[in-house]
Amino acid sequence: MSNQTTVGEGTEARTIADKTVSRRRFFYFMGWGFIGIFLITILGSVIRFFFPRILYEPPTRYKVGHLFEYTLGVSGKFKKQFRIWVVREVDKLYVIEAKCTHLGCTPNWLAAEGKFKCPCHGSGFTPDGINIEGPAPRPLERFKVELTEDGEIVVDESSRFRGERGEWSKPGAFIPV
Ligand code: FES
Repeated sequence: MSNQTTVGEGTEARTIADKTVSRRRFFYFMGWGFIGIFLITILGSVIRFFFPRILYEPPTRYKVGHLFEYTLGVSGKFKKQFRIWVVREVDKLYVIEAKCTHLGCTPNWLAAEGKFKCPCHGSGFTPDGINIEGPAPRPLERFKVELTEDGEIVVDESSRFRGERGEWSKPGAFIPV
């Protein structure tokens, strides 16, 4: 009887010892896990330091050629690249932003109809950008234009001119020809 008790106690002691060992192993792996996560976080920060997130944005000031390259009318030469139209009239040249003043879609120039037409909700604009149909509440906007010393046209998107505010006649809104 006492022998059986001894065997039982031995088994119990082994079970407790096993539990202690497995608990110790658990904490051992937990500890290394935390250290691993910590090191990975540090490594990630170091990598981000050397490769910072950079947002590449298109330039807001750029050249679009010489005056003599533009004949009378609307040119869509830079519509895809800069989202603009260059418009030459008899006595001036200006640049219209190809962005509908309703919800910002890109209108198309319909040469046959002599107007800009927005494909989203049907707004229409005259060749100089005045809204004539559809939901667009105001004319298309124009960007600042100037000439360099050698006669190149420079567009500066940081300055814009709005027709409904009477800004189209301001200096910088057009280049006199
Ligand atoms: S976005 Fe041009 S008409 Fe609505």
